[in-house]
Amino acid sequence: MEIRIENLTKAYGDFKAVDGMTLNIADGELIGLLGPSGCGKSTTLFMLAGLNEPTSGRIFFGDKEVTHIPPEDREIGLVFQNYALYPHMTVLDNITFPLINRKVKKAEAIERATEMAHLVQLDGLLNRKPSALSGGQQQRVAIARALVKKPQVLLLDEPLSNLDAKLRVETREEIKRIQSEVKITTIFVTHDQEEAMSISNRIAVMNKGVVQQYDAPQSMYLNPINAFVAQFLGTPQINMFNAQITERGAELDGTLLCSESRMKAEAGESLPNGTYQMGIRPESLELCDDGFTVTADSVRMTGRDLLIFFHIGDTEFRALTHSDQHIQAGDKLCLRIRKNALIIFDENGNSLVKY
Ligand SMILES: Nc1ncnc2c1ncn2[C@@H]1O[C@H](COP(=O)(O)OP(=O)(O)O)[C@@H](O)[C@H]1O
Ligand SMILES: [Mg+2]
Repeated sequence: MEIRIENLTKAYGDFKAVDGMTLNIADGELIGLLGPSGCGKSTTLFMLAGLNEPTSGRIFFGDKEVTHIPPEDREIGLVFQNYALYPHMTVLDNITFPLINRKVKKAEAIERATEMAHLVQLDGLLNRKPSALSGGQQQRVAIARALVKKPQVLLLDEPLSNLDAKLRVETREEIKRIQSEVKITTIFVTHDQEEAMSISNRIAVMNKGVVQQYDAPQSMYLNPINAFVAQFLGTPQINMFNAQITERGAELDGTLLCSESRMKAEAGESLPNGTYQMGIRPESLELCDDGFTVTADSVRMTGRDLLIFFHIGDTEFRALTHSDQHIQAGDKLCLRIRKNALIIFDENGNSLVKY
């Protein structure tokens, strides 16, 4: 089922929780709806589910407009953060519930529920009560229950937030596997950028009710449309700072970050001299023999990487390097910026060019 969202707005008085959202989601696609708490993700999902009436705009499932159709007629499956299972019912009864509710015969309901339980790998647990399951297993029951009606669209609102770190990763892989087996068009709401990037075909990043960028994870990470997206994606966070473009190149407090000749070579034409907001991801700063020199303030071992803190003038930077490097606080380091990794923003925070 293809989904089209046209200029969708939800206002509470003067406040717009969702502001003019337009998105197309292809049949069978899994998209991540990503943004900080309060940016309008759940409001969007609830409008898609029919649980929240839009102020304006339209929603289409396939060719059919569903903007004002009640939830039970939309053929959607919903999964929330708190699994919302019936505690007094067994796993099997929880999964068959939507079918029994729809007057499907008991034998058929059990057959379909058992099939779903197998899909989400709950075989053998069908007679347990939810309280006898782990959080991840409970969430899989919720997913099976959402899918058992064979909905056309699956809507997941922060489904992994209540799980611990390890289960979160396992369960998100599980969701990805189930989704690609069933090939159901899916919208996955999360505030966790890593989760969104690892699971989604495309991500819509929202801020204050407005979609900032809608793109595949890698392309969004490498080409953020503005400073908000650049800062929201990636850990450790991108280094953002104000620096000058001069006839020498990109300069910060006398340190030449990127020469004029390299800027010309990479982007063709140069920007007018002046102060610009710039961004460099920590992993885009690499050790080299021929670059600019800094002094490490402190070094943190994270396992796979070493995270190095240093200053240029008053600006603190973070650089990531491989954990087999031997670097200590006070060491002088020669660094350069990887190609195409210095992002320049205009005064409104929109990306202009990469050098
Ligand atoms: N019924 C409501 N009345 C007024 N404001 C609301 C209502 N529901 C949500 N909001 C506001 O709309 C904004 C978006 O909420 P929500 O969609 O739940 O955000 P998210 O899911 O991204 O955390 C928030 O600022 C929230 O306080
Ligand atoms: Mg929410």
